[in-house]
Amino acid sequence: MTAVDIRFLAEVPGHADTLAGWHHAQWSHLYDDWTLEQTREELRDHATRRTRPTTLVALQDEALLGSVSLVDEDAPELRDQGDAWLASLYVVPHARGTGLGKALVKALVAFAAGQGVARLWLFTPEHADYYARLGWRPQGQALLRGTRVQLMDILPA
Ligand SMILES: CC(C)(COP(=O)(O)OP(=O)(O)OC[C@H]1O[C@@H](n2cnc3c(N)ncnc32)[C@H](O)[C@@H]1OP(=O)(O)O)[C@@H](O)C(=O)NCCC(=O)NCCS
Repeated sequence: MTAVDIRFLAEVPGHADTLAGWHHAQWSHLYDDWTLEQTREELRDHATRRTRPTTLVALQDEALLGSVSLVDEDAPELRDQGDAWLASLYVVPHARGTGLGKALVKALVAFAAGQGVARLWLFTPEHADYYARLGWRPQGQALLRGTRVQLMDILPA
């Protein structure tokens, strides 16, 4: 089996719309007025650069298997909490459970360190244990459109 590569979406910008469809289906319930078109625009924008805000993708033989983003803000309600967020960790269902999610998180944290991010944040409705095993620390909870989410942080450097 060919190895999986983690690269910038900017290297394969043609995948931005596919990714947008996956992300929108997975998370639109957490946000007010977050349309599929906005999701596409956001990811097409990420595909133009390799600095924050941007997106890393997992590829196997050019097939898209997942992604993770580094952004300045992941929900307006949490703007004051931090200014660097790991967002939109996603692995296609058929590739789950093989370590890809873990590899994407580690790559994103290393990338954030290289970008000079001192403290990185995320929020998650149901994967706090998953991130805790990867070194993230619980930092309280918040409510996003009625869904309780766990806030977590890590010091990338
Ligand atoms: C969450 C998600 C990214 C995990 O990706 P994955 O590639 O299946 O995860 P990995 O294979 O890297 O799992 C790494 C480890 O975590 C464990 N794990 C996987 N899912 C877990 C969960 N929900 N809770 C706790 N541990 C979990 C695995 O067993 C594995 O353990 P190991 O290192 O002892 O073998 C994937 O299920 C997904 O895309 N889900 C839908 C989107 C989503 O919920 N994203 C998270 C947003 S906060």
